[in-house]
Amino acid sequence: MNLRTVLSFGLLFSSVAIYAQHINIPVETRSNALVLQADAKKNLNTIYFGKKLANASEYDQVAAQYKQTSEYTGVLSSPYTPAGSKSLLEPAIAVTHADGNNSLDLRYESHKVEKISDDVSLLSIVLKDPVYDFQVTLYYKSYFKDDVVEQWSVIRHREKGNVVLQKFASGSIYLKADGFWLNQYHGDWAKEMQPEESKITHGIKTLDTKLGTRANLFQPSVFMVSLNKPATEDEGTVLYGALEYSGNFRTDLELDYQNNLKVISGINNFASPYSLKPNEEFTTPAFLYTLSNTGKGDASRNLHNWARNYKILDGKGNRLTLLNNWEATYFDFNEGKLFELLKDTKKLGVDLFLLDDGWFANKYPRNGDVAGLGDWEENKTKLPNGVASLVKEAGNNGVKFGIWIEPEMVNPKSNLYEKHPDWVIKQPKREEHYFRNQLVLDLANPKVQDFVFGVVDDLFTKNPELAYIKWDCNAVIYNAYSSYLGNQNHFYIEYMRGLYKVLERIRAKYPSVPMMLCSGGGGRVDYAALKYFTEFWPSDNTDPIERIFIQWEYSYFYPAITSSNHVTDWGKQPIKFRTDVAMMGKLGFDIVVSHLKENDLKYCQEAIKNYNTLKPVIWHGDQYRLANPREGSVASMLYVNPEKSSAVMFSYLVNNRYDEGSKLPVRLKGLDSGKKYSIKEINLYPDTKSAIDASKIYTGDFLMKVGFNPVVNSGRTSVVLQIEEIK
Ligand code: DGJ
Repeated sequence: MNLRTVLSFGLLFSSVAIYAQHINIPVETRSNALVLQADAKKNLNTIYFGKKLANASEYDQVAAQYKQTSEYTGVLSSPYTPAGSKSLLEPAIAVTHADGNNSLDLRYESHKVEKISDDVSLLSIVLKDPVYDFQVTLYYKSYFKDDVVEQWSVIRHREKGNVVLQKFASGSIYLKADGFWLNQYHGDWAKEMQPEESKITHGIKTLDTKLGTRANLFQPSVFMVSLNKPATEDEGTVLYGALEYSGNFRTDLELDYQNNLKVISGINNFASPYSLKPNEEFTTPAFLYTLSNTGKGDASRNLHNWARNYKILDGKGNRLTLLNNWEATYFDFNEGKLFELLKDTKKLGVDLFLLDDGWFANKYPRNGDVAGLGDWEENKTKLPNGVASLVKEAGNNGVKFGIWIEPEMVNPKSNLYEKHPDWVIKQPKREEHYFRNQLVLDLANPKVQDFVFGVVDDLFTKNPELAYIKWDCNAVIYNAYSSYLGNQNHFYIEYMRGLYKVLERIRAKYPSVPMMLCSGGGGRVDYAALKYFTEFWPSDNTDPIERIFIQWEYSYFYPAITSSNHVTDWGKQPIKFRTDVAMMGKLGFDIVVSHLKENDLKYCQEAIKNYNTLKPVIWHGDQYRLANPREGSVASMLYVNPEKSSAVMFSYLVNNRYDEGSKLPVRLKGLDSGKKYSIKEINLYPDTKSAIDASKIYTGDFLMKVGFNPVVNSGRTSVVLQIEEIK
């Protein structure tokens, strides 16, 4: 049984430990190993997932240490459970073959490993049905340094007719632990990313969406599973998961009769049985996960590094600070007013002016959200000289110019709707139902893809200096039906394929222009979309107290460089508080600059200068959540540069009850204990004195063991500290 032969398959292939009866296939990252095993009957199972063992031959000893109840099927821990043969539990894949048969079995056929770089490897495992000419290739792309794995599958067959994919997950993982805790998120407009943690009980918990566009509005695909006990920031084993997909997703978490947990994630099969032609390949989106044995903080930092290095468009690059006019003017503006705002942009000291909704449509002018969407020509009354004149005037003021679009949508009151009713998603025989008075265009239709691409292309062709796009998406899909598609079961999938095709075309022609992924809030952010977008809009709720909580939750999964945070008039907090909160990401403003009191303006100008110095640390540094607003009266967040020579710490009072404040020091993290640091309060409101003695020097050792008190209280509700190494 244990006669071990190691076969080397040359450069492209991994070393594979082949035992007389089985083959072990490891997916290893810096700290962890997922070990799959094809047994004598070629069933593929998971034999280990957790901290990497020093001696790989011991993975074979793992199973014997578990004395759980009987394994009746031989495929309980399958990484890709097929339905209809031996499996008794939730499948990853279910199909109806060309002959109408509903059974699927998948046996190991072969595997190989491709080394993409020092850091990245791609394992592929071919599984075949012994009876039908049907196969699935499982892919595992592992990012060694960051302990991140992306998993997806490619499904194909050569049967004599179409095979219907009833369920077609990207992949699954199988976990063993003494109890599991799920941290999931729910929300709605202006209430995004509300966390909920619960112990997972037996049966299936499904996280999913059926909204089509703006898919995350009620529930995003990101989640955490803690093993053995709920993980904290610095302790415990925790898995973060997410589907890299902007449409309908579905993640099933099944606690089985043996007390093990299977997590299966993929496109939601809701209303989507997919007819796969012979030789056609169906590639699922990637299911992404990272496992940390040292709490949530490390999981986040790993994910942030991975995202900036490998996923987010220009993740390691620059971003533009901006002034947006949405809340300053809403739909009520004209060229003269905008010219004034361009001057304000310069006066404030930000990089770009962003013109929001309301600049377009003539037959049904866009003077409110009831009309005009879809008619992307400048409104002649508001902008008689077009966008070109605004771009030029921006240049004259030494600032850049960006523009809002919502190109996937249409108001029934629009020229576009009248000309192309067949481009609109709606049921032919049912009454229309609107979300924000609008409908969604049918991106499954190539003509609509051309149109949407054309909206962006036209703007850039006419205004090559255009420097930024805010891409909005305010409606979900009701009455899902495409008059273009023959098979309505393909609707949701073809919509997303159409959207990605458009984004591919845009990025092929305009590879680097920054684009914000907006959808009236965080209804759309995910790691498939962030391949095309430089940033996202976490929420329309910009009340800074609310934002501390919302940004905190997003920070578990997305790095600060992607989080567009705007200073607005929401909430009751002073301008300093609002600006400090918005600085914990990508800073923007959406206020009437000319209405600011003299000292408020002075404060903002100074804060922007500070931000320009600190932004490399905030965007590219390591983020440490120091004090959780859900657990105490003070919230505190720290960003440290990779050299550990510069850091910035933001602290806020989040509880206005009597005498609340930072009674205890807040322990810093991520510094060098051997280095010495000065701590200076910045972003001081004009004519106020700091409570912090900037002349004192502290070792990293002191700051991380004892901590530092930012002196947050009812008189100092927002405190920003700049921490610099003293040599
Ligand atoms: C929703 C966005 O979130 C807002 O910022 C703004 O752009 C409006 N849409 C415009 O209609």
